[in-house]
Amino acid sequence: MEMPHSALLLVLAATLSVAVAYDPLDPNGNITIKWDVMSWTPDGYVAMVTINNYQMYRHIMVPGWTVGWTWARSEVIWSMVGAQATEQGDCSRFKGNIPHCCKRTPAVVDLLPGAPYNQQIANCCRGGVVPAYGQDPAAAVSAFQVSVGQAGTTNRTVKLPKNFTLLGPGPGYTCGRAKVVPSTVFLTPDHRRKTQALMTWNVTCTYSQHLASKYPSCCVSFSSFYNETIIPCAKCSCGCEHKSCVRSERDSKRLAVTGKHARGHSGGAPAAALLQCTTHMCPVRVHWHVKLNYKEYWRAKITITNFNYRMNYTGWTLVAQHPNLDNITEVFSFDYKPIVAYGSINDTAMFYGLKYFNDQLMEAGPHGNVQSEVLMRKDAGTFTFRQGWAFPRKVYFNGDECQMPSPDAYPFLPNAAPAATSAAALVSSAVVVASLMFLIMA
Ligand SMILES: *[C@@H]1O[C@H](CO)[C@@H](O)[C@H](O)[C@H]1NC(C)=O
Ligand SMILES: *[C@@H]1O[C@H](CO)[C@@H](O)[C@H](O)[C@H]1NC(C)=O
Ligand SMILES: *[C@@H]1O[C@H](CO)[C@@H](O)[C@H](O)[C@H]1NC(C)=O
Ligand SMILES: *[C@@H]1O[C@H](CO)[C@@H](O)[C@H](O)[C@H]1NC(C)=O
Ligand SMILES: *[C@@H]1O[C@H](CO)[C@@H](O)[C@H](O)[C@H]1NC(C)=O
Ligand SMILES: *[C@@H]1O[C@H](CO)[C@@H](O)[C@H](O)[C@H]1NC(C)=O
Ligand SMILES: *[C@@H]1O[C@H](CO)[C@@H](O)[C@H](O)[C@H]1NC(C)=O
Ligand SMILES: *[C@@H]1O[C@H](CO)[C@@H](O)[C@H](O)[C@H]1NC(C)=O
Repeated sequence: MEMPHSALLLVLAATLSVAVAYDPLDPNGNITIKWDVMSWTPDGYVAMVTINNYQMYRHIMVPGWTVGWTWARSEVIWSMVGAQATEQGDCSRFKGNIPHCCKRTPAVVDLLPGAPYNQQIANCCRGGVVPAYGQDPAAAVSAFQVSVGQAGTTNRTVKLPKNFTLLGPGPGYTCGRAKVVPSTVFLTPDHRRKTQALMTWNVTCTYSQHLASKYPSCCVSFSSFYNETIIPCAKCSCGCEHKSCVRSERDSKRLAVTGKHARGHSGGAPAAALLQCTTHMCPVRVHWHVKLNYKEYWRAKITITNFNYRMNYTGWTLVAQHPNLDNITEVFSFDYKPIVAYGSINDTAMFYGLKYFNDQLMEAGPHGNVQSEVLMRKDAGTFTFRQGWAFPRKVYFNGDECQMPSPDAYPFLPNAAPAATSAAALVSSAVVVASLMFLIMA
């Protein structure tokens, strides 16, 4: 059992390292950081910086984004609106007016909701939280204004910042070089006049789960109505080394008091997980239960469980790939959108919570789960309960791919033999399947 498993992991690791920053389910997903120079000043410029999340199902969750860069020369930030640099740095060479930030490599974070009015700007002040584009395209944007000094004052003398970095909230993003692009055209609020940025440059950042963490952050388990066996998450799906956990809610409460300072914001690392002990050691488990069989339809129940006592997942997303998801008839208590990555293949769906109902997956404990049922119309050509067909091929939680059970682990149809058997056995199991289906439908 051990050998094939580690071999599989090796293959998986190899594929992952080759496919850095490429997500087959969201090939065009990226985050762009756009700088629009709105005016020149005596010693520099004022720019609107807009961060667009074009990723279909990966949002930036608490504690939000941190954007960093390296100035090309000795630029300083005189002031900012809608965001702030986490450190001022050494401004001792200035007298009188002191800049907001003198660091050569500033790190900027969004302001929190409720920031003073005179520090706000459109699309700012959400604590750096940005929804996924597929979830809420209109809100998948964050912006701030920066006034730069000791910089070029024309579009020929200005030097683009270099070495952009994006943390959101952990590592995982890689940003390309800033590139001058055609100046953005803005429409005045009354839509009767167009204005134009004096100069615009773009930076594109892409995500790689492999860079974000060594192990998956979620796992998948299976069960079905036709077999009592539950296929649990694979052992140590999310890595067992150097991980601690607590056995009960009471222990977690005791530890939560001492760990409270870890729940930081504004450039701080995300709160360290406090996991409930499980064999998989994942903060999140997605369970797929094949629940009911009707003549023309079938029904799967999806349960997402949180095992982290220090995390409420607000605005969570779940993506599942299964050949029958192109025939979704109804989704109960989740919102849902099809994801069409290649135009024609339509086998992937994004699920997310209903606002004010279950868009927050609560911390581990009695309320730490959300569930839904999905009704699908059977596709006559392909539908079967055999060989684990009814289980998803891929599952992503919050944009990270979850660890699946090994390919041969799924609840078998009663008396059905596992995949590689003789033709005779296959025929006999097909007969059993056929009679079982007949019984179920009758
Ligand atoms: C970034 O995403 C947008 C929207 O999907 C796409 O149009 C653009 O080509 C992408 N940019 C890069 C550099 O991949
Ligand atoms: C620059 O970014 C903006 C918004 O982020 C996007 O609309 C535009 O297409 C990008 N331009 C290029 C050339 O990538
Ligand atoms: C780019 O930024 C990273 C992280 O802030 C830093 O480690 C690296 O040295 C920087 N590279 C340059 C050329 O400034
Ligand atoms: C710079 O500004 C001049 C006019 O002032 C304009 O013709 C030119 O296209 C601009 N170049 C860029 C890169 O924006
Ligand atoms: C999660 O949300 C609940 C209710 O809003 C709150 O009481 C709890 O402290 C939150 N937990 C964490 C870890 O933020
Ligand atoms: C994909 O499937 C959904 C629902 O099953 C449907 O609404 C949508 O039109 C389909 N899209 C394509 C391109 O087939
Ligand atoms: C399932 O969806 C596909 C593609 O959207 C469509 O061609 C097919 O007719 C559907 N099947 C049923 C049974 O509705
Ligand atoms: C249920 O599935 C398991 C494999 O997941 C298999 O070992 C077992 O025999 C099946 N039970 C029945 C009653 O077929």
